[in-house]
Amino acid sequence: MRAIVLLGPPGAGKGTLARDLAECAHFSVFVTGDVLRKAIQEETELGRSIKSNVEAGRLVDDETILTLVRDFLRSHREGVIFDGFPRTIGQAKALESIIGADSLGVVYLELSEEMVLKRLGSRRNCPACGKIYNLLSNPPLKDGICDDCGCALIVRKDDDPDIIKSRYDVYLKETAPLVEYYDGRLIKVNADRSVDEVFHDVRGKLCQE
Ligand code: AP5
Repeated sequence: MRAIVLLGPPGAGKGTLARDLAECAHFSVFVTGDVLRKAIQEETELGRSIKSNVEAGRLVDDETILTLVRDFLRSHREGVIFDGFPRTIGQAKALESIIGADSLGVVYLELSEEMVLKRLGSRRNCPACGKIYNLLSNPPLKDGICDDCGCALIVRKDDDPDIIKSRYDVYLKETAPLVEYYDGRLIKVNADRSVDEVFHDVRGKLCQE
């Protein structure tokens, strides 16, 4: 199987890129954050156990995440894009043991902290279809309404300015070490460009692999 990992700080554009790449490559997407937020919204046992961590911007424990990934891979074996996984060295090692290191392409979206704060402070999400908007760079046609499904857009709970800051700190401590871990196998991309430019750059680099 072939898998693409999207790595980068919160707000780097992983979710935006994942949707575009999946459409063009006909890959499935595992959006870790969406799976967790859905469980919280539906108040499942999993949702109740992870709610406080996710809403405060702390990581969920590796074993819970790996169980979700293994479940997903049971029914999606052809080609997968991982948005938001792995986020720790432990998760990265486990992924390799599940699918094999040779099957992995790792895209690293580089973005400064200043841009992270700016993007997440102006993000809006559709809770129904998952479409991602930005009031500055990609606003909806009608204020507060999803272009695709007509649902009212929301601000994610963890997009509060203080929580954005702690998510960035968690990223530096827990996830940034993966850049070194994947050294030599990383496709580095400057994420401080338009959505189209980032997408075409990544697509071109993945095709050369
Ligand atoms: P998750 O949902 O994965 O959040 P995140 O990694 O913080 O990433 P974001 O979704 O905030 O940003 P993004 O990079 O997808 O950017 P987006 O495309 O939206 O995780 C949430 C929580 O779940 C975690 O804090 C943790 O608690 C838990 N969790 C998840 N995975 C876990 C794991 N593996 N282990 C443990 N816990 C886990 O774009 C951001 C904004 O910028 C949008 O408004 C967008 O429109 C805009 N934008 C995007 N690209 C561009 C561009 N090129 N130019 C201009 N604007 C752009």
